[in-house]
Amino acid sequence: MRALWPTAIAWVEPYYDSEHLRRTVVWLVRLDPAATEPLLVAALTHDMERHFPGGTQPHKAAGAWDDLKYNTRHTRRSADIVSRWLRAQSVPESFVEQVTPAILEHEFGGSPNGDLIQAADSLSFLDTNVGLVVAWVLNGETTPTHAKRKLEWMYERIRVLEARELARPLYETALTAVDREVHRSLAKRRTISAR
Ligand SMILES: [Fe+2]
Ligand SMILES: [Fe+2]
Repeated sequence: MRALWPTAIAWVEPYYDSEHLRRTVVWLVRLDPAATEPLLVAALTHDMERHFPGGTQPHKAAGAWDDLKYNTRHTRRSADIVSRWLRAQSVPESFVEQVTPAILEHEFGGSPNGDLIQAADSLSFLDTNVGLVVAWVLNGETTPTHAKRKLEWMYERIRVLEARELARPLYETALTAVDREVHRSLAKRRTISAR
């Protein structure tokens, strides 16, 4: 693990949302200071499929955040890519076999470890991805209502009680920030186009 961790950090670094991945680890340790090494690796890499050509994205215009088909494709592809990468680092198969299920469950939870990684993913999303959500609205990828519904889903899906309590203020701050930032940017655009 000591040898693997810096390599894993370097692997996720070029991904556009690597800050979200690193913060997922921080939240996981906050929720479970005794989290196992495979679970830490799963938290650090859980969305990595989006870094590679053919990466999946939800149907943002429709606000289909909880779409089972999309989320299954996303988690399956990440689990496949991360498993291949771990094997290429000569990580024992027994370790890989503990990473994969956690990645597969990071959107909907399921097992105790799945619920933990899902909660950490939600906390990290609400904590770090407000700018990303605002950009979706400003780029015309989704509506302000759907954008806020994404934040709501990330909050409401949390099954670990302690995590839900930790997430509540982050969720409320994120909602306000999306409203404020979208309003500010659109007002600025209107001023520029009125000149
Ligand atoms: Fe994900
Ligand atoms: Fe994530």
